[in-house]
Formats: sequence, C-alpha cells, structure tokens
Amino acid sequence: MDWSERVRKAVHRLRPYVPGKPVEEVQRELGLSEVIKLASNENPLGPSPKAIEASMKFLWEVYRYPDDSYYRLRQKLASIYNVPPDWILLGRGSDEILLHIVQTFIEPGDEVVFSTPSFVMYDILSTLMDAVCIKVPLRDYIHDIEGLLDAVTERTKVLFIDNPNNPTGTILRDRSVKTLLEEVPKGVIVVLDEAYSEFVESQDYPKSLDYVREGYPVIVLRTFSKAYGLAGLRVGYGFARSEITQHLFKVREPFNVSSLAAIAAEAAIDDFEFLDRVRKTVWAGKRLMYRGLEKLGLQYVPTEANFVLINVNRPAKEVAEALLHKGIIVRPCEPFGLPTHLRVDIGTQETVERFLSALKEVLISRS
Ligand SMILES: Cc1ncc(COP(=O)(O)O)c(C=O)c1O
Repeated sequence: MDWSERVRKAVHRLRPYVPGKPVEEVQRELGLSEVIKLASNENPLGPSPKAIEASMKFLWEVYRYPDDSYYRLRQKLASIYNVPPDWILLGRGSDEILLHIVQTFIEPGDEVVFSTPSFVMYDILSTLMDAVCIKVPLRDYIHDIEGLLDAVTERTKVLFIDNPNNPTGTILRDRSVKTLLEEVPKGVIVVLDEAYSEFVESQDYPKSLDYVREGYPVIVLRTFSKAYGLAGLRVGYGFARSEITQHLFKVREPFNVSSLAAIAAEAAIDDFEFLDRVRKTVWAGKRLMYRGLEKLGLQYVPTEANFVLINVNRPAKEVAEALLHKGIIVRPCEPFGLPTHLRVDIGTQETVERFLSALKEVLISRS
C-alpha cells in the first residue's frame, strides 16, 4: 500500500535535515584512514573531561529512569545563572526545546518569522506544525532587524533568532536586540537561540538573561553540544519566565533528557578550565584561519562562533567533494542558498592548517 495519502500534508512539505557526513562513513566509502570532520560545528577538543569522568562513574546507574525533575542540574543552572529553577527548560539538545516551543504555541496557519539562512530546524519544526514560515533574508550576512519586524503580522506567534547565526557566525548586538524587543508586537515570543554564545568575543553581545528578567517575552536557548563538547549526549537548556515555561513543561515527555546526559552536563558546567581552553583554541584557530584565507585571496565572514563561512568563488559543492577525497569533511552551503560558500568548523591549529593546505591544493587543481 502507498501510505503517501495517509501522511499529514505538513509531512509532505518537510525537507529532511541533512547532517554532516560521519567520519566512519567517509572512511568506509573512500577507503581513507585519516578523516577530519569540520562540518557540524563540533568541539575541536572533544568533550569536557569532567563530564566524561562523571558519566563513567554513573554508568552503573543507567538501569534507573532519570529524576524527572532533573533537580540537581536545574538547581545548578539556577544558582549559576541566578534565576528561579522553574525558569529553566531542559531538552534532548536545544533542538528538542525548539520542538517544545512550536508544539506549545503553533496552531496550523500561524506564522513564524526567521532569517534566511539561519538554523534549519526553525523551518523544519515549524513546517511540521503546519505553520506558515516567513523567511527574511539576512542583510550583509547579519539578521535584518527592520526586515524581521516588518515581517511580523497579527498572525505571528514566534520569531526565531540564532545569535550567533548559523551558518554565518554573525551576531546581533545588545542595542539591536533591545530595539527588536521594544518594537515587536505583544503576543510574539522571541526565541534567542544562543547555541554558540560561549565563543563570542564581542563585548556588546547581549546579556540576554537580563531580557528575561526584565519581563520581555523571550526564550533564551543554550546547549551543552558545542562549547562543552557533549553533542552526542544530546542535552540543551533554556530560560524563560514561568508564565511561559509552565506551558512548555506540559508538552515535554517524561525523562526527555537521559540521566547520563544530565550527569555529564552538571559536571561540564563546572569545567571552567576546559571551557577556557576551548575558547582560546577556537579564537586562536580563527585568527590562523583568517590569515590563511587572506593568503588564498578568499573572502570570509568574520565569525563569533566556532565555524566560519568562506566564499570559494566557485561551486562549493565541488570543492567540498574534492576536500572529502582528501579526508576533510566540510559543509557546502547550497542548501542555505549560498552556492559558493563553505561552512567550516574552526579546529585546533593542526586541523586548521590541514584544512588550509588541502583547500589550497583543491583550488590550484581547479583553477
Ligand atoms: C543555531 C543552533 N541552534 C541549535 C542547535 C541545536 O543544538 P543541539 O540540539 O545539539 O543543542 C544548533 C546545532 O547545530 C544550532 O546551530
């Protein structure tokens, strides 16, 4: 039987998420022994050692269900960020909190607004809920505040902003976000998705928890996937006032975060030494990357995240394919509407150098 007709119309409209190729797949398919992945904005130094130590000790406890209130992780986040515990959202990655947001607020036909390109899950999850997605082009690779505000109508429920933006790595500064929050009509939830906040160097990056404290209708999202290196464990968190969180809690399934992930997250957040090393590595790698790209005469978008968007001035898909054959996985940005751009993780000095020399070889062989 063909089940297509039985499937929800919204599902037919979905374009599935295309993840970065796993290292093992590339090794297997191309017969390469050494492969580096610079395609999923992962941590260049691996996971937080404190998180690993705590998880190893905890492994014998996994026969139990998690504490569904996630008391310890919640208390820890509440005390670090100085907010009430019931302002804290926890999810299987921040992806799951995004899902909770659309499940909670979107009725079919409601509008959601976000930039294009921006994090693809806004589109996928909103489409799944039968929302009408209003996509506002970035202006010079940066969120266009006026454009976003103009796109809001009385049907708009949610406005998503990834800050830093994925795939450009650009940020909105405090003053711009404040303008947006002042001007956005009442009843629109603004999601400030700060998956890469720990990598930001600019001083005027928003202290977005203050917006929550000041009573703006904001949900702030963070993750343990990037700066803490726990992407495979899937744990994200967020903050909003209890007027909002109380509804999001209702759609959460029990035990949505695994006990192991919660334990690892709790330990990771205390791993200041690791976080410091990660940031310094990314910041140094970024400078090395900029210098290398300039030498190659390539334009890039200055980034505040752990990845950089590079214009290779030719079909990026072909460049990515050639790099793959040299054992380097990067992300061609055609699906983001940027056909000549690559998004590349900023790794350690060694991986940045390997990437740059492979890129040079590829560009020479194709010029
Ligand atoms: C902007 C942004 N938000 C959220 C996420 C989701 O992260 P996770 O679900 O691993 O917490 C990502 C992942 O790449 C991202 O780029």
